[in-house]
Amino acid sequence: MVEANNEKVIILDFGSQYTQLIARRVRENNVYSEIVSHKTTVAQIKKINPKGIILSGGPASVYVTNAPRCDEEMVKLGVPILGICYGMQLGCQMLGATVRPTATREFGRTACTINNKSNLFKSIDKDAAVWMSHGDQVVELPREFESLAFTRNCPYAAVKHKNKAFYGVQFHPEVTHTQHGNIIIRNFLYEICGCKGNWKMRSYIEKSVEDIRKQVGAGRVVCGLSGGVDSAVTAALIHKAIGNHLSCIFVDNGLLRDYEAEEVIKTFREHFTVDLHAIHAQDRFLDKLKGVLDPEKKRKIIGHEFINVFKEEAKKISGAHFLAQGTLYPDVIESIPAHGGPTVIIKSHHNVGGLPAELGFDLVEPLRFLFKDEVRKIGEELGLPEELVWRHPFPGPGLAIRIIGEITRPRLEILRNADKIVIEEIRKAGLYRSIAQCFAVLLPLSTVGVMGDERSYEHVIAIRAVETTDFMTADWCRIPHETLGVISNRIINEVKGVNRVVYDISTKPPSTIEWE
Ligand code: XMP
Repeated sequence: MVEANNEKVIILDFGSQYTQLIARRVRENNVYSEIVSHKTTVAQIKKINPKGIILSGGPASVYVTNAPRCDEEMVKLGVPILGICYGMQLGCQMLGATVRPTATREFGRTACTINNKSNLFKSIDKDAAVWMSHGDQVVELPREFESLAFTRNCPYAAVKHKNKAFYGVQFHPEVTHTQHGNIIIRNFLYEICGCKGNWKMRSYIEKSVEDIRKQVGAGRVVCGLSGGVDSAVTAALIHKAIGNHLSCIFVDNGLLRDYEAEEVIKTFREHFTVDLHAIHAQDRFLDKLKGVLDPEKKRKIIGHEFINVFKEEAKKISGAHFLAQGTLYPDVIESIPAHGGPTVIIKSHHNVGGLPAELGFDLVEPLRFLFKDEVRKIGEELGLPEELVWRHPFPGPGLAIRIIGEITRPRLEILRNADKIVIEEIRKAGLYRSIAQCFAVLLPLSTVGVMGDERSYEHVIAIRAVETTDFMTADWCRIPHETLGVISNRIINEVKGVNRVVYDISTKPPSTIEWE
């Protein structure tokens, strides 16, 4: 847990797809939040000492046997509780209400009338559009409750207990489609829980620095740098805490983008003056990849080779007991099963930076309570270059899975040059930050073209650009035709060996973001 004296709101997870979103909304209001299992006992909650509790939504029905429940003593704690959707139904049921399936289910945007201004709806208009997603609802409410809002098909769209600090909303204030949703969450935090809002990135950095010092003492920490934002922020934070007791290892596997290796080396060696071990292992990787076409084989080879190179180098760093990793909060949450059963989300990719436990290091994971946007804020506070902080995610196997077919030096060169143009033009058009990931792919075919009066028979480059927040689903970006035109023109004119550019307009699912 972070910040012992910090005010904290906990979210009991009942398996909603929006649970992470609730945590993020709370933090965006400068209040620290953590997601915990719905099985957390009252004794455990007392220890956490939260300012407020939020019960998440969930896919179950409260009236079926084995529906996930929480410790019923919780309502006696006096800590304000906000139940959302399933959380509202459960809380109301625990306090004597009846929940049943509805004749008319509500999904999506729904008109809602607020007929009772409690603190929860302070500064909010009487009529608001809210986001609903339910097939059950509260149908009978004991006298100790008051109704705060209704919709056409839902008489109790929001409720409040008269004597206990329990509030419930049938809709989802955490999704952006709910008008004033953020104000509702803010009202709960500030008006009802009495939070002051002291969750700031600067104080996180201070606390984290203290924690790192406590954990590692005079020990040495090894940190693998990949060129991405997570490992860069991890290293910068640890460097701030222990200075030259940090050693970084950067492996150039020959599959990085143009100037990527130089930039990482420059930032960490010159700007942060970190003890940086840059291993130029291009030949090792490219030799092993010779003749390999299968994407999964490519991934395995690169993963194994990375571990070998890293191990060899780490052994040379004497006295290193700790390994720093840029694990983020979503990875931690994914390993908390919502129903006590197996985790629902199966990770399809393992970052090649993931190192096996047999290396015998103790882990230092200073970002394990942070979301990606918070990591970026910390990166900015720590003075990392803007380009690095806002960089699109880049897969561990790098360009190897963007070259369809065999990886050769000439093909890498073509892809690197094309990718550089894509990114340059996307930046110039001011689109880089609004796109989640954007890159070039080299296809394993040649097509006929005409250049001057000559027939050409050359490579095809595909451009992929997606919008997504979680990378589990994604839509293709509607990049203006003008920008696509400039990109295509420049690639065909400037990248030798390419005579055709195509744009990928597939969504995920059924396609994936990467081509391999
Ligand atoms: P897909 O292609 O599955 O990608 O839609 C989702 C996200 O994961 C990244 N990705 C990887 N990252 N190792 C990684 O570290 C991998 O093998 C890998 N494959 C895909 C991809 O770039 C996207 O952000």
